[in-house]
Amino acid sequence: MELLQKARKLESQGRDIVHMEIGEPDFATPDPVIRASVEILQQGQIKYTPAAGMPELREKIAQYYQRQYAVDVDPQRIFITPGASGAFLLTLGVSLNPGDEVLMTDPCYPCNSNFISFFDAVTRMIPVDAGTDFQLNAQLLEQHWGKRTRGVLITSPANPTGSVIAAKDLQQCVELVNGREGCLYSDEIYHGLVHGSAAASALQFSDRVFVINSFSKYFAMTGWRIGWLIVPEAYCDAVQRLAQNIFISTPSLSQHAALAAFSEENLEELENRAAEFARRGEFLYQELRRLGFAIASRPEGAFYIYADCSKFTADSYQFALDLLQQEGGAVTPGKDFGSNAPHRHIRFAYTTAMHRLEEGIRRLERFVGA
Ligand SMILES: Cc1ncc(COP(=O)(O)O)c(C=O)c1O
Repeated sequence: MELLQKARKLESQGRDIVHMEIGEPDFATPDPVIRASVEILQQGQIKYTPAAGMPELREKIAQYYQRQYAVDVDPQRIFITPGASGAFLLTLGVSLNPGDEVLMTDPCYPCNSNFISFFDAVTRMIPVDAGTDFQLNAQLLEQHWGKRTRGVLITSPANPTGSVIAAKDLQQCVELVNGREGCLYSDEIYHGLVHGSAAASALQFSDRVFVINSFSKYFAMTGWRIGWLIVPEAYCDAVQRLAQNIFISTPSLSQHAALAAFSEENLEELENRAAEFARRGEFLYQELRRLGFAIASRPEGAFYIYADCSKFTADSYQFALDLLQQEGGAVTPGKDFGSNAPHRHIRFAYTTAMHRLEEGIRRLERFVGA
């Protein structure tokens, strides 16, 4: 965020900045969604909805799970939330007590541990590297499971590493956590944005998991602030009550927009965009390696590459500042994502058009003097 602010400031002074730090799709909200939303707006019926969300939307998401993962999900277990962020708040709010511990990877999306401390619970970060594709596995969970461990968070594809957990590992993690009566939280916000075969959902292996998802990334609707949460049946009442008290409802315009996001026309457009992200990802991966960045485990999804920059610097933060200042290239230093060798890592986001990425690489090449 600090880098982004600096980049914006330089831009306001007339500098041309290549943005490779931004964690949201550059694509606009797709047309079918905009058209449906304008119609709803013109009808003027923008009212509260049930706290759990519009029944048609919950039903539509259940159908989507059938189509994508061949799993049956009772729509009563699906809650519409203000983004994945709202879904996290509800999930952790109903399942954690003060002092409980949640295991997650280091590096990780930084807001997660802040959410956990908001509930007076504790994060135990497990350092991961290319050896496990930057993901957790059952062995790591067993090794780090403590007396106070209550939950495990798995994010796949992950931010900042773009890594995807193997289906077999996800299944073993689900089984281990269920066997210990813990809570498995699966952040699936980058599903749909995978370069190879589709990422597995934790729901394929159990009904007793919490699945967090969103319209922000694959659906390119960050600013609509809408996501969803699927919970084990035993938690439905608690989530319903918490959602009612905290949000009353997710914005109804966004819910109508999300309904339109499942039209065939829209899904086709989203698939084209996912293919474009994959093309950019491949380009950036090859180019960064050519310049001398080490990427030991090939990222398979999201729109990030977490590259080791130790060939050029011992301080990725200073590297990012200097790159911005000297060449107008904006990237995110590792220190945003944890304490596992952050100084050696930079996150590159390919949320910008191909010709801008090419320009970014030219600037980076000049900067590192390759
Ligand atoms: C891994 C991960 N989870 C959750 C979120 C929050 O997303 P939302 O916009 O749906 O609140 C983000 C946002 O970047 C993210 O990267």
